Amino acid sequence: MWQDGVRAVTSADAGRIMPFLRRSSWTTLESSLVEVERHLGDWPAWMAVQGGEPEAFLLLDVLRAPVVQIHTVTCRDKRAVDHDLPELLRAASFYAKQCGALPPLYMGDSAWLRQPLARAGYRHVGDVLFYEKEGTDAPATGNQAVEVRLVDAADIPALVALDSAAFAPIWRNNAAFFRHALCSFAMLYAACLGGIVVGYVLCDVRQEQGQLARLAIHPDWQRQGIGTRLLAEAMRFFAEAGVSSVALNTQEDNHRAQRLYRRFGFQHTGERFFVMQGAWD
Ligand SMILES: CC(C)(COP(=O)(O)OP(=O)(O)OC[C@H]1O[C@@H](n2cnc3c(N)ncnc32)[C@H](O)[C@@H]1OP(=O)(O)O)[C@@H](O)C(=O)NCCC(=O)NCCS
Repeated sequence: MWQDGVRAVTSADAGRIMPFLRRSSWTTLESSLVEVERHLGDWPAWMAVQGGEPEAFLLLDVLRAPVVQIHTVTCRDKRAVDHDLPELLRAASFYAKQCGALPPLYMGDSAWLRQPLARAGYRHVGDVLFYEKEGTDAPATGNQAVEVRLVDAADIPALVALDSAAFAPIWRNNAAFFRHALCSFAMLYAACLGGIVVGYVLCDVRQEQGQLARLAIHPDWQRQGIGTRLLAEAMRFFAEAGVSSVALNTQEDNHRAQRLYRRFGFQHTGERFFVMQGAWD
């Protein structure tokens, strides 16, 4: 029997928390329950308990720390949204602050969560747009002077440094993420000039769809056709993998990236995620 109040969730709670997550309709579950269960021991999670039963649940994705992101929020009903969720958001913020992380981030399309997040001090920091393209043709080849090769573990510090230069803090990947990407994603290529890593592209394949997970060029080497080259190489990889379409997402205000993707035939699907970030008191 769980005691009433807010408590940390561990993998030992999985047997009882998973049915709660399965049956509650106030949920952000954009990703699969299997993924939630897999991370129940290694990512921080909390639940609010009343009468020995879970009322609300929150799992924080810490893979990209110091960026910490709300992975899943589930509430039993509207009462739990109003009364229990604020406690869990406070627990997540407290955790992030103690770890020296950034204030937690939410990225998704669960409209019901906007108000509770806003009441907890989260601000809307932008939207992410989804793009898709049928087929794998590449209308341009880009800069042929750069060497494109597979990334290995020795490149990871260079990729972390590149992300720090190319992205605002909330979008940066850390070494743990790149180590995970090396063994879990289908392809990670680096673009090199004179032995220096100047860009990378990260791709995956899911159910015959190519996923362009990330494309980044160091600011010192942008506007030289290297982004075009890596995108063309990614399309070639997808063609060899036999995918029928390719999907990606990017920030709404990232006009340069969107121009590049549109040149390659990607079109906005209409789908978008909103991004909100907490703030320290
Ligand atoms: C978006 C991004 C990947 C583009 O990479 P890039 O290497 O600059 O891309 P390219 O050089 O192939 O094309 C970019 C522009 O340079 C122009 N360009 C290409 N070669 C050029 C050259 N030799 N001289 C002058 N301009 C050139 C292109 O026409 C294009 O112009 P446009 O922006 O007006 O449409 C890069 O800006 C980047 O990494 N940004 C930060 C991270 C990011 O936002 N990633 C994508 C979202 S996940």
